[in-house]
Amino acid sequence: MEQIIVRMNEVTKRIGSRTIIDKLTLDIPLGEVFGFLGPNGSGKTTTIRMMVGLMKLTSGEINIDGHSITKEYEKAIRHVGAIVENPEMYKYLSGYRNLIHYARMIPGITSHRVKEVVQLVGLEARIHDKVKTYSLGMRQRLGVAQALLHKPKLLILDEPTNGLDPAGIRELRDYLRRLAKEEGIAVFVSSHLLSEMELMCDRVAIIQNGKLIDVRAIQGQKDEIVQTRRILEVEDADAAVSTLAASEQPAEKLAPNLITILANKETTAEANAILVKAGLKVYGIREDVKSLEDQFLEVTGGERIG
Ligand SMILES: Nc1ncnc2c1ncn2[C@@H]1O[C@H](COP(=O)(O)OP(=O)(O)OP(=O)(O)O)[C@@H](O)[C@H]1O
Ligand SMILES: [Mg+2]
Repeated sequence: MEQIIVRMNEVTKRIGSRTIIDKLTLDIPLGEVFGFLGPNGSGKTTTIRMMVGLMKLTSGEINIDGHSITKEYEKAIRHVGAIVENPEMYKYLSGYRNLIHYARMIPGITSHRVKEVVQLVGLEARIHDKVKTYSLGMRQRLGVAQALLHKPKLLILDEPTNGLDPAGIRELRDYLRRLAKEEGIAVFVSSHLLSEMELMCDRVAIIQNGKLIDVRAIQGQKDEIVQTRRILEVEDADAAVSTLAASEQPAEKLAPNLITILANKETTAEANAILVKAGLKVYGIREDVKSLEDQFLEVTGGERIG
């Protein structure tokens, strides 16, 4: 059974008159690498900054392990490890000394845990070398090791593949997947590159202009509780869209008798019930089978980014 660690509900960020993030509703389950895919400027970093409490929400809510990031910041953030900006490292100290230094600032971190995180990120062979001799990928691993010290349930990495070569990306993918599976944590990574997301993630959410466009599983993941795009065949698409909108279930018209909603299993059933109750016929419900690539091409207007 999947467990949700992050619930974002209608998260909105306005700066001045611009809406940067627009009613973003998203669930993130434990045990998966979850991708946040969107072109440059789509709002990935802004969302992450709100998730870790670096930026205020204009409206909506983010709950981490059941705690509101705005109302119970300390309790919510306890479960989060993140690399948002470059982590501070002492270049003339070894990776190990850096971790020990950092561990001293957090109560309850044992030297056993330090060794464990070094293993988790596969940095054993070089951990006693000075950080200034590290490659970019090794520095990133050290950053991830540091972010994992307090055993977070959620690891957030903003564009972790930036600057890595293909081998580095493959290694990153391997250890992030291992982390998600073995530690049972959620790994949330952002990227503007579809190809990398497909390799790295179990599930990908697509964002464009601050709006969630789609969430889909990459390799036969179960979509019991996480939203995917569903298509409903109805008698009257206009009536269905306005009826659902009145019940706060955003839907879009695709054709005179087709609408699409972003929903999980339960909310799909709810949408169906709302329509039927309003006397609107539903002839069929199916998942949208467009490939992730087609979906992303639509989002980016046919231009591959990157
Ligand atoms: N402090 C700010 N003030 C005004 N606008 C901002 C601010 N921060 C972000 N924005 C705007 O919000 C939008 C989303 O930015 P954001 O950095 O979240 O995008 P991104 O998806 O992370 O992009 P990239 O892939 O380039 O990192 C952009 O249009 C950006 O200009
Ligand atoms: Mg960004």
